[in-house]
Amino acid sequence: MAAVLALFVILAIVSGTVASDPDMLQDVCVADPTSGVKLNGFACKEAANVSAADFFFDGLGKAGLTNNSMGSVVTGANVQKIPGLNTLGVSLSRIDYAAGGLNPPHTHPRATEIVFVLDGQLDVGFITTANLLISKTIKKGDIFVFPRGLVHFQKNNADKPASVIAAFNSQLPGTQSIALTLFAASPPVPDNVLTKAFQVGTKEVNKIKSRLAPPKK
Ligand SMILES: *[C@@H]1O[C@H](CO)[C@@H](O)[C@H](O)[C@H]1NC(C)=O
Ligand SMILES: *[C@@H]1O[C@H](CO)[C@@H](O)[C@H](O)[C@H]1NC(C)=O
Repeated sequence: MAAVLALFVILAIVSGTVASDPDMLQDVCVADPTSGVKLNGFACKEAANVSAADFFFDGLGKAGLTNNSMGSVVTGANVQKIPGLNTLGVSLSRIDYAAGGLNPPHTHPRATEIVFVLDGQLDVGFITTANLLISKTIKKGDIFVFPRGLVHFQKNNADKPASVIAAFNSQLPGTQSIALTLFAASPPVPDNVLTKAFQVGTKEVNKIKSRLAPPKK
């Protein structure tokens, strides 16, 4: 009987915490990245040292530089930029796309994403675990949702730049870019894993590896 009760308690706890970041237990817990304390998130800064600056960021107002091989750039406004977001379970980012730019297929392990198109037009999509592609063309003023954990992308097929604001139900959604994860990991994913997974030869694998420089930082 006690074992059954314990199981129910565990199930209740687990099912209450899988939906998004854990709930906060106090008004604020401004991140103190210098604290040596290791926990799920960041330790809280002393209340006496908390100020408006901890809840402020002015970095999404203008377009980021898109002159890279993908023609897109993501500017994050998460707990790493806004320490006051620690324990609050939300964050934003801005994504800019050059004409023809691609935000390549990636996943956010910790958040659902909802984007609002600031400018331009994008062809967007996500793929379900049943391998169904859900895709749509969205334009200025439109909203689209990418469910948590599913692989998704945005492509600017228009001849002028585009931009979106993206919101997440996590203070730090995390990003795994599929191509970089598989072909630019350090140390590298073994060639024989990639040749078998993609049903190609070592030459093709090495060609992709050579073109995808390891991500900076
Ligand atoms: C507040 O911040 C200052 C400067 O960073 C530091 O010297 C001081 O110890 C902090 N006070 C508290 C109460 O944490
Ligand atoms: C992108 O443009 C900026 C400013 O024009 C320049 O500083 C930077 O080196 C460029 N980056 C690349 C990868 O070309």
